[in-house]
Amino acid sequence: MVSCRICRSSLTPFLSLGQQPLANHFLKPQEFEAEYFYPLEIMFCPFCKMVQIMEQPPADLMYHEEYAFYSGTSSHMRRHFEDFAAQVKGQYLTGPDAFVLELGCNDGILLQNFLDPGIRHLGVEPSGNVARAARERGLIVWNEFFSPDLVPKIIRDFGQADAVVGANVLNHMPELDTVFQSLEKLLKPDAVAIFEDPYLHDVMRLGAYDQFYDEHVFLFSLQSMDFVSKKFGFEVVAADHQETHGGSMRYTLCRKGQRSVHPDVKHWREREIELKYDRLESYQSFAKTCESSRDALLALLKQLKSQGKRVVAYAATAKGTTVSNFCGIGPELIPCLYDSTPLKQGKFSPGSHIPVLDAVGFKDDPAEYALLLAPNHAREIFAKEKSFAQRGGRWILHVPRVHVLEDGKEIT
Ligand code: TYD
Repeated sequence: MVSCRICRSSLTPFLSLGQQPLANHFLKPQEFEAEYFYPLEIMFCPFCKMVQIMEQPPADLMYHEEYAFYSGTSSHMRRHFEDFAAQVKGQYLTGPDAFVLELGCNDGILLQNFLDPGIRHLGVEPSGNVARAARERGLIVWNEFFSPDLVPKIIRDFGQADAVVGANVLNHMPELDTVFQSLEKLLKPDAVAIFEDPYLHDVMRLGAYDQFYDEHVFLFSLQSMDFVSKKFGFEVVAADHQETHGGSMRYTLCRKGQRSVHPDVKHWREREIELKYDRLESYQSFAKTCESSRDALLALLKQLKSQGKRVVAYAATAKGTTVSNFCGIGPELIPCLYDSTPLKQGKFSPGSHIPVLDAVGFKDDPAEYALLLAPNHAREIFAKEKSFAQRGGRWILHVPRVHVLEDGKEIT
């Protein structure tokens, strides 16, 4: 029996994504043999409704000196974080000498927007290389895993926070209890914690099984966020839906009764009940959709290969690791993968061992098809690579279902 990380009830498995490697561990051939794998099983807690993965690899295997994910690679995300910071500053950092703390600040793409006079900031980031990139932007960053031990040190050096923020970070933290206990100490009485994470409804509606990988231990919904918040004396006072990562929710939490609750919170809560996200059957039917999607993608790639077509992939994402390993796609079907991250180039994709090449070379590749492994960045990538479609290249997307785009129009 596997217990829920939040309420200790017994979890029910609903989707098996097979043996998976570390999603962001792009590797060299000499590492192939000893590559780390673990079973990626997705579970639902019928009591607190939290969707979570069964087993997570050790944290130091995932976050270290060569963490391959740099948040700042997308210009769309840079604009998104400017808007996020503007909202936090306008609503919650208006007092004198305000202090904002970011958990998991990565390369500082969000935190850099708080470098204003009258605002103090601190980023806590466990991966050394991205923490250094953030410091190079002039930010104060502690290269540490966030833990309750840090709380007295933060309070000693900065005092309590007016806002704690995290973007795609809370879902990475298996010890949620200790995070909430720390928030209780870190936040001023009427201060807020704002977390933006992939949203259950978008994953369910898109059949986006690629949101599950080693780092994403939880997939939040309002119902599960309500449960955790309540357990620690907090409540959700705002729920702002975002387009990022294929659909995210920005949850604003504060101590119960400190602030008025925005009507959108009730709206999303009711919508989740309407959609039956409190029932196991919904997850079982989602699992069937994911399995059909896997079969359809593999069949399409095999068909194209049998027709002698060249199919490459674009964006060496963590999501792509789940896709290629769940579907069983390797270099025999996809000879190479293009990506803009220097740390990934010249290496091979986790598990599937597809060579990763510099994205600048994509324009010269004679491929007829390209599988987009970052559907969340489709607009930005299609604009950047418009010559591919102009010369007759076709994009393959696996969400919301497997389909092919020719000149922006769906043809299958
Ligand atoms: P993202 O969806 O944030 O990845 P993940 O699933 O790992 O969270 O996409 C980031 C990756 O996509 C990163 O490896 C860089 C790549 N990328 C490009 O190669 N070109 C682009 O134009 C964009 C926006 C991303």
